[in-house]
Amino acid sequence: MPRIALFASGSGSNAENIIRYFEGRADFSFPLVVSNRADAYVHERAKALGVPSVTFPREDFVDGTRVLERLQAERVDAVVLAGFLLRVPQVLIDAFPGRIVNIHPALLPKFGGKGMYGHHVHEAVKAAGETESGITIHHVNGQYDEGDIIFQARCPISPDDTPDDIARKVHELEYEHYPQVIEQLWENS
Ligand code: GAR
Repeated sequence: MPRIALFASGSGSNAENIIRYFEGRADFSFPLVVSNRADAYVHERAKALGVPSVTFPREDFVDGTRVLERLQAERVDAVVLAGFLLRVPQVLIDAFPGRIVNIHPALLPKFGGKGMYGHHVHEAVKAAGETESGITIHHVNGQYDEGDIIFQARCPISPDDTPDDIARKVHELEYEHYPQVIEQLWENS
């Protein structure tokens, strides 16, 4: 049974959606939500869902040892990034080989890299006049948005869509697909 830690820096709507998707299932568990921000709304969501959440300061995500110790104490064996905006420390990548995944709100390799997160992505997609956007779920390596791609889904963009409209479409894809991809990756593991 995979024991999955969810990492989130902000609102945490994906984290909540994933926890709810697996509610009542004996074969997946989510013992911990990890954030780098004490004021992130994901803590409220976690509390309401009865999942412990913890904040580590930014420095702890440079070295990663303290974060790793906490994950090991919780017997975590996989990590799901859901709107987590810091680079994942190498010590975690080494500790969970092939078992850290991220979701990016665009069709990588376009619109990825440092600084490309959340609304910045949708504004860049709009500014580039793209006719479609989507989501990319990928393995995490030491670089932003560069790990092997596991899954992509697309949505059309019309010329009068605002960045907010694009964000809404992309979030819908995230809610639909991220839990299912996690399920397919790690069921029976
Ligand atoms: C999501 O759209 C996710 O794809 C994006 O942040 C948003 C978090 O929303 N992640 C990135 O931009 C990572 N580069 P949420 O907090 O409501 O789940």
